[in-house]
Amino acid sequence: MALRKTIRDSSIRKAVFPVAGLGTRFLPATKASPKEMLPVVDKPLIQYAVEEAVAAGVKELIFVTGRGKRAIEDHFDQAFELEHALERGGRTVLLAELRGILPRGVNCIFVRQAEPLGLGHAVLCAQPVVGHEPFAVLLADDLISAKVPALVQMEHLHRSERCSVVAVTRVPRSEISRYGVVALERNSRSPHAITGIVEKPPAAEAPSTLGVVGRYILTPEIFEELSTSTAGRGGEIQLTDAIARLQRRQMVLAHEFVGRRYDCGSKLGYLEANVEFGLRHAETGRDFRRYLRKLGT
Ligand code: G1P
Repeated sequence: MALRKTIRDSSIRKAVFPVAGLGTRFLPATKASPKEMLPVVDKPLIQYAVEEAVAAGVKELIFVTGRGKRAIEDHFDQAFELEHALERGGRTVLLAELRGILPRGVNCIFVRQAEPLGLGHAVLCAQPVVGHEPFAVLLADDLISAKVPALVQMEHLHRSERCSVVAVTRVPRSEISRYGVVALERNSRSPHAITGIVEKPPAAEAPSTLGVVGRYILTPEIFEELSTSTAGRGGEIQLTDAIARLQRRQMVLAHEFVGRRYDCGSKLGYLEANVEFGLRHAETGRDFRRYLRKLGT
């Protein structure tokens, strides 16, 4: 009994990180290094996503990678020479931080997505490793700052309702066509049982102004829907379309998470994240605030 209490018993053990995308919006920065390795202050985007998954109790990190993504593997691997040099130099705090990138008991698995056929296809590539259990999907370019990490909020919901959960946020109608958008019953409150979901609809056709952000908890039946999916919007196999079909078989909840999301897939969102995380950072916060004040006067 005592042992059981000390182990964080999560309903979600595996998380999928689709990281095969080309990152064209950040070229030339992403010509030779993955967009997921872009730093917000001093940590790459993918590390924030991994920390969120680990906080939700995830033990297996499944990266769906493509060409030119070696830096992600190296980041979550041991850096023997670097650690040795820090140890010799007595830099114990930094050393502990580096060693903590991948906490004890958490493992990485890398799966290759040979062709860029879309987010739905990337998730399907992880099926042999996920098997028949519920799992999380995190898109690293959606950075979420929250007191209770967004995936932890969703895991609580999944634990009580035992169904798929997607994270949503209110989006101005003028921007809604960039998102997967959920359809709901009238006067529904979060968590909403969705009645439909569409990928990037024109603003006039959007069924609501609740856009999906890159956090999903999915039941394994999603793989059946993905494996029979055909190309959708943009000629890609869309995760959204498979969720739409899953929702006809099972309840799917949309959770309006408490927290702030930064769209680090766009230059503006990425800059906003750097400013706000920089202001909060223990090392830079005070001086950076002073600098920004000076800049504004
Ligand atoms: C993907 C999903 C979309 C979702 C978005 C969140 O789109 O397909 O449904 O709203 O992530 O960031 P992408 O931004 O990768 O085109």
